[in-house]
Amino acid sequence: MQKEIDWNNIDLNSEPPAQEPMRQYYFMKKAREIVMEESRKLGRRLTADGETFGCQMNAKDSEKLIGILGTIGFEMIDDESADLVFYNTCTVRDNANQRVYGRLGLVHSMKKKNPHKKIALCGCMMQEPGVIEKIQKSYPFVDLVFGTHNIYKFAELLVTMYHSDRMVIDIWKDTDKIVEDLPAQRKYPFKSGVNIMYGCNNFCSYCIVPYVRGRERSRNPKDIIREIEALVADGVVEVMLLGQNVNSYGKTLDEPMSFAGLLQEVEKIEGLERIRFMTSHPKDLSDELIQVMKTSKKICRHLHLPLQAGSTRILTAMNRRYTKEQYLELAHKIRREIPDISLTTDIIVGFPGETAADVDETIEVVKEVEYDNAFTFIYSRRTGTPAAAMPNPVSDAEIKENFDRLLKAVQETARKRVGRLTGEVHRALVEEINEHDSALVSGRLSNNTIVHFPGDASLVGKLVNVKLVEAHGFYYIGELQ
Ligand code: 5AD
Ligand code: SF4
Repeated sequence: MQKEIDWNNIDLNSEPPAQEPMRQYYFMKKAREIVMEESRKLGRRLTADGETFGCQMNAKDSEKLIGILGTIGFEMIDDESADLVFYNTCTVRDNANQRVYGRLGLVHSMKKKNPHKKIALCGCMMQEPGVIEKIQKSYPFVDLVFGTHNIYKFAELLVTMYHSDRMVIDIWKDTDKIVEDLPAQRKYPFKSGVNIMYGCNNFCSYCIVPYVRGRERSRNPKDIIREIEALVADGVVEVMLLGQNVNSYGKTLDEPMSFAGLLQEVEKIEGLERIRFMTSHPKDLSDELIQVMKTSKKICRHLHLPLQAGSTRILTAMNRRYTKEQYLELAHKIRREIPDISLTTDIIVGFPGETAADVDETIEVVKEVEYDNAFTFIYSRRTGTPAAAMPNPVSDAEIKENFDRLLKAVQETARKRVGRLTGEVHRALVEEINEHDSALVSGRLSNNTIVHFPGDASLVGKLVNVKLVEAHGFYYIGELQ
């Protein structure tokens, strides 16, 4: 949704307003002038590129950053040779950090050839202690660094950056502020992520997210509904409600509201066809939510329910606050109430002290729940988290062996589970032309499984009936009906 801003009403000769979002509109106008002036000097339009790492939350933040760049006059391109590149970083595992450092090396050589080039870094990694110092020391050519709490200030930060010949750094430790009504540029015209809450209060012992994304705060339901209504008016048929722990939505509001209550409100929006959400913490998943999902016509038949580990001993050390038995009971209850639902999960292997016997228990859970898909990760030590101080007597070779065993179990159960719909006809939202074969399009079923079938660009964004002809591991080959 591109926000309509009345530029004539903004007077750049006066002081910037203190109130948001008016203050940012003022800086967008100022940044527009800078961009225009730079373009005039170069004799062409300035280009910008956004590179996003990590989760859906970051993807959504990047849409906001790109919306601001578009508003101030940049032409967006998908190439790091652009005049301005931002890296929206992730830090959930160390390899995400390493990838960013690798990319900075590459972009540095481009900057040497194009001295006008500007490089901005933002996102979770910037909130991590020690990272800023490392960037200042080893990557001094970076122009702008900001964090997860102040992305709404991007226009203001860009103005400061263009007026400065030194690295501009603005990192906040935390915030209780939520700024509404800023521009955003959607990646897909027909589906969109919608933030419903920010931050996380769970402090799972391995996880850096609560430190880099701050305390949990929910958006006002009225703002959420207003945003979705505007999205639907603009052609969106599917929304993904985003939060680190959507099941605790609403607890911090002046008038508390449950997540299930919010879903019922979203369901009423006319023209909206599908509702998804991410991520659910098992400890907070209510019976009310299961009942709302069961009777809903719009909520998709998919639940992502991170397990992390199957052994209660490890779950306790992870501070997950459920036991293996409680998780299994919940999964069975969901399957009993909503038999056609697909369950997916996240699992970490190699948490400090996790033995082969513990991983056997995880595999038992995988076999019993029969996930449609599971994202498996090798534990990554994150400085500052409680688990970072826990000794790990288990060798890397053993961890790798445990990981491979788990992966095999996940693939076997998923293949069996995903294939169960073969021969049936289901609704699919067509998302894109197939990347590998342009004679095919790729669609998503309500249960999140992908189906590829013959079709052309005219189908993209449409909900169509598809016969699921053949199952191939995690996806289907189908036929339009
Ligand atoms: N190491 C490995 N995986 C992790 N995750 C979170 N923190 C870590 C870590 N330190 C995984 C969890 C989470 C997913 C988004 O990333 O499984 O659900
Ligand atoms: Fe991290 Fe746990 Fe919060 Fe998820 S719920 S973001 S794993 S602390």
